Amino acid sequence: MNYNLAMSNQNTDHTPYYITTPIYYVNDRPHIGHCYTTLIADVAARAQRLIGRDVFFLTGTDEHAEKVSKTAAENDKTPYEWATINADRFKAAFDFMNFSNDDFVRTTEDRHKSKAVEYITQLKDAGIITLGDYEGWYDPSQEEYLTEMVAKENDFKSPVTGRDLEKRVEQNWFFDLPRYEPWLLEQIESDTIRVLPEARKNEVLGRLKQGLRPVPVSRQIKEGDADWGIQMPGDDSHRIYVWIEALCNYLTIVDNDERQKYWDGEVVHLMAKDIIWFHAIIWPAMLNALGKTPPQTVYAHAYWIAEGTKMSKSLGNFVEIDLLQAYAEKHSLDAVRWFLTTQGPLGANDSDFAHSRFVEVYNADLANSVGNSTSRVGNMFNKYFDGKVSGTCNGEFGFDNGTSLQTALIALENAGKKSDDPDRTYKIAEFTSQAVVNACDSLSKMDLDAMLDAGRSIVRHVDDFISFSAPFTLAKQLDTLEDGTHALSSILYSCGEALRIASLLLSPAMPEKMAELWRNWNCNHLVDPDDANSGFVAPLSELAKWNGDYGLKPGQEIIKGEALFMRADTKEPAPEIEPAS
Ligand code: MSP
Repeated sequence: MNYNLAMSNQNTDHTPYYITTPIYYVNDRPHIGHCYTTLIADVAARAQRLIGRDVFFLTGTDEHAEKVSKTAAENDKTPYEWATINADRFKAAFDFMNFSNDDFVRTTEDRHKSKAVEYITQLKDAGIITLGDYEGWYDPSQEEYLTEMVAKENDFKSPVTGRDLEKRVEQNWFFDLPRYEPWLLEQIESDTIRVLPEARKNEVLGRLKQGLRPVPVSRQIKEGDADWGIQMPGDDSHRIYVWIEALCNYLTIVDNDERQKYWDGEVVHLMAKDIIWFHAIIWPAMLNALGKTPPQTVYAHAYWIAEGTKMSKSLGNFVEIDLLQAYAEKHSLDAVRWFLTTQGPLGANDSDFAHSRFVEVYNADLANSVGNSTSRVGNMFNKYFDGKVSGTCNGEFGFDNGTSLQTALIALENAGKKSDDPDRTYKIAEFTSQAVVNACDSLSKMDLDAMLDAGRSIVRHVDDFISFSAPFTLAKQLDTLEDGTHALSSILYSCGEALRIASLLLSPAMPEKMAELWRNWNCNHLVDPDDANSGFVAPLSELAKWNGDYGLKPGQEIIKGEALFMRADTKEPAPEIEPAS
């Protein structure tokens, strides 16, 4: 797909969109890190569906790792039993987070295993995977070999867990990665494979320029090993190295007639910085060797830390799903989704999950902004126009093009408050359509915070306009102002219509709360009732048209409803959760 075209033409881009998350190890329970990457994928998937694209969103679990069989044994379970217990925990956590994934892959499923074997066989037959000796520094905690340089830099300890590296010599099957060095360099430098954020691209290119070595793609089966993993095709003394097999999931699950279009469309792989090398280098090279197109985007975000400290097993300070659930119970799930999406480590820097920050952001963005603005406008419709939209307006206010603002300003003056800027004009309709364009551009760059900020900016604009035009003051003077009712109706329509458009842009992060608003404001016609998760009846370009087919209509009922977000008490401590068993 032409990226520039997509940027300028987002609203009409019909290229299928395929977004993936890493598949997570099932040796343990899900935590904030797993939920975060999957949430980001969910927000992107929902936003892409909103602009009208055919989306496929895949997540799942990586089950054949040695550490899975080890922890299974420690828990008196077979590896498969243990994998199932944890895969179910991931599924439950992701259901709870209201993720709209279209499929959930477990690498123990036949549909994955059979295709993975097919790919490895194809590469063996082509002589791209061959047998050889391998000596290297192995990180048993991560199940990966490190280069001599990385091992040295980290004092021969795992850069992730700090555990000792082991020198290992093995006869292995190798993938001929060096063969793809010039191709990878060209693809990444030209952004044909976009590695994002920019800082990560530079890191990957830096390491690539130091040269590549063949990648082991198998593990020798040793005595006492659990019977766990996929056997290397044509060699019953080896199993396919779990990483190589795991990467294949992105293709195995869509490599069929029905889903092929997603691989042929725009492919986006999301993950954190820890595993970017596999995704930006090894996997694209494998794809090239298989005759498949590489992903368009490999996006590696940074890490969550907790209350200022890196999360680790030894410190036991992981933000577990239970804590996210406790926050959700108190402040709503969408508040948690909002906080994680807008405050998370989407860029190159780590982010801190701190209680004080959660409360601050919740109050500023949600209770005092989105929540307050929608209930204020809903209340005014109820108070002044019997809970109904009273008329439409083109969303322009100023002295040149209408009397509405002038009337409102007279009301202000009469109330003894002189405006400090009587020449001010408000072009609210124009502001919202620009915000929609900004949101689409940000989405194409995977800048989800900026995308949501476009929605937020409309809410701020409405708040500002309400303060300036003071409809509540105007409402008190309707008897004396000739044009007063029309002015008031125009102001309220514009606020309501702008908030309706804002709600569309905010919905990928807060699908439930925005659906609640649509129910209250009788905007159910925006969504397909048979597809509560994500289905919109038309693309954003249609839905967001000011006073268009899907706009607020005169006579439409606006129910006051409960405030979407109640203010949080800043003094209240973080929710307590039971320690994990
Ligand atoms: N199974 C491999 C991935 C194979 S993909 C073909 C794996 N699994 S994992 O369970 O360790 O998940 C790693 C991923 O979890 C990271 O890349 C990231 O997406 C997420 N996170 C884990 N800890 C995280 C943080 N502290 N912060 C943010 N996300 C992190 O690696």
